[in-house]
Amino acid sequence: MAVQEQKADSSFDRYIAEVRAVWGDGKDPQLPFKIAALMEKLFASTSPDDPWMADILRDGKPSRELYRDAEHGFIQMGHVHKQGHSNMPHDHGPCWVVYGAFTGITEITKYKRTDDGTQQGKATLVKDELHRLTPGVVQPYVRGDIHSTHAVEGPAVVFRFLSYDLDKIDRSRYNVEKETVIPVPAAR
Ligand SMILES: [Fe+2]
Repeated sequence: MAVQEQKADSSFDRYIAEVRAVWGDGKDPQLPFKIAALMEKLFASTSPDDPWMADILRDGKPSRELYRDAEHGFIQMGHVHKQGHSNMPHDHGPCWVVYGAFTGITEITKYKRTDDGTQQGKATLVKDELHRLTPGVVQPYVRGDIHSTHAVEGPAVVFRFLSYDLDKIDRSRYNVEKETVIPVPAAR
C-alpha cells in the first residue's frame, strides 16, 4: 500500500483527468470557461517545487508540449518566455485557447476587426481589451478572438491549452500597421 501512496497523482495529472471528465463531445460553448476554471485550480494547487513544475522552470524551454490527448485532440502547452517576448496578433482559426500565467506577467491584447472582410488580404484591427495575466490568472479566448501576447515581466511561465492541434488547421496572423491579414495554413 505504501507504494500506492507514493505514486499519488500530481496536480497536473489531476488537472488532465478533470479536463477529460468535462470534455464530453468537445462542443459545449462553456468548455473554454470550464477549462479556465480548472487551470486556475491547477495553479492554486501547484508549488514551484512540485517535481513536474520544477522541471519546467529548470528547463526554461520557450515551448513544450506537456500533454496531448489521443482521444479528444486537445493539447496542453507549457512556455517559459523571457521578458519582452511577444507575438503578432493572431487567431486560432476554428479553435479556442486558454492562456494562464504561473509566474511573471503576460499582457494579452484582444482586438476587434473593424473592416468587413471583403477585401482579400486586408484587415483593420483596433485594440479592444487588455488582459493582464499575473500569477494564477487564466483567460479563455473563444473561436475568432484575435489576440497578441507580451511578456512584460519574466521569466513568464505561460500555459496554453489548445482545443486542437494548431498545425492541423488554417488560421491567420494580422499586421496592424500594414492593415494586412496573413494566412497561416495547416501544415500538410
Ligand atoms: Fe494565441
